Amino acid sequence: MELQYLTGFGNDCATEALPGALPVGRNSPQQCPYGLYAEQLSGTAFTAPRNENRRSWLYRIRPGAQHKPFEPFGGAAGWESTFGHGPVTPNQLRWSPLPIPQAPTDFLEGVKTWGGNGGPDEQGGVAIHLYAANRSMQGRYFYNADGELLLVPQQGRLRLATELGLIDLEPLEIAVIPRGVRFRVELLDAEARGYMLENFGAALRLPELGPIGSNCLANARDFKTPVAWYEDIEGDFELIAKFTGGFWRAPIDHSPLDVVAWHGTHAPYKYDLRHFNTIGSISFDHPDPSIFTVLTAPSDTPGTANMDFAIFPPRILAMEDTFRPPWFHRNVASEFMGLIQGVYDAKAEGFAPGGASLHNCMSGHGPDAETFEKASHADTHSAHYIRDTMAFMFETRRVIRPTAQALASGQLQNDYYRCWQGIVKHFNPNKA
Ligand SMILES: [Fe+2]
Repeated sequence: MELQYLTGFGNDCATEALPGALPVGRNSPQQCPYGLYAEQLSGTAFTAPRNENRRSWLYRIRPGAQHKPFEPFGGAAGWESTFGHGPVTPNQLRWSPLPIPQAPTDFLEGVKTWGGNGGPDEQGGVAIHLYAANRSMQGRYFYNADGELLLVPQQGRLRLATELGLIDLEPLEIAVIPRGVRFRVELLDAEARGYMLENFGAALRLPELGPIGSNCLANARDFKTPVAWYEDIEGDFELIAKFTGGFWRAPIDHSPLDVVAWHGTHAPYKYDLRHFNTIGSISFDHPDPSIFTVLTAPSDTPGTANMDFAIFPPRILAMEDTFRPPWFHRNVASEFMGLIQGVYDAKAEGFAPGGASLHNCMSGHGPDAETFEKASHADTHSAHYIRDTMAFMFETRRVIRPTAQALASGQLQNDYYRCWQGIVKHFNPNKA
């Protein structure tokens, strides 16, 4: 089934799965068409400025309030929301890919939190997760009251069945599910693995473009929001909630994915990273990696994001007399990287698709010895084409605190520091 989408970013969408299901001219008429219930889903304060305001009106078979009481749920044991306050290691960290589980594991059961900062009470910070699953969520629906979710699949296609419609997602695409939206994750292939960012702060949005102008980076028209879709089924189901860092389960006798029509701005969307219009230097030197920002979640400090999502896609390096790989670097922000496919141009080996690295605040990092020597002697009179690659970064203003399970993981590469040990001293005070 080829799914239908509305195009654009942050638009006030209107969509209906049955003709005439959307009330005309009012949001909550005395009686809705088809006997539906009207329900508003608010993603921002009622009084948030118009350009920040996110809310949707849902016209559904039953209101979202109809379920049995929640009780604690232990089925998402790898998903953590507290990151402690003590010291964390400043070491550079890198992990090999998570193995696909052997036992039946759905998306919720397959999430493992690797690090994070802040939390839902602070309305700031992020949690960074890996997931690996081998079956669809069955009879189980989920919503996250703590933050919005940014999914970055690395292996295996997913179908996100959400209250507001269906999204099919494959590696090299990303999806964002806003806070509170109920959904189920289905696997379209036998196995699925990837990364997920949970954003406790202000919603993700496109970065400003400044002197770049009105185009480039991720263009708004390439974002896709699902059209209305619903399922009218009854049974012995469960509604799982993530709320205040805990997981809760409520019995529910019908599918909560029963929204027949909706309109508004608080809605899931997806984006194909292959549509990112990458820009860079055509003279010398590198611009800062902020030119690779796809989406940003601002903080209360202008220009200092709670979180930026940046990608390092296929591109052409044309700078002359320039060290072309990413430079050696120490950053006040903290950088978690993943690799969706191919090879990342700062590392000769060790950073595999599905793997991850963490370079925290002020921890030195950059190209390994082999990459440095090669790039220092490369001919920069001709362009270098970087093909078949897609790395990404979650960059946060606060330190990313790795979880105990990440530090104890068998995937942690204890020898990562060695990639810089082979860097030789070239300094000669007698030769400029
Ligand atoms: Fe960096």
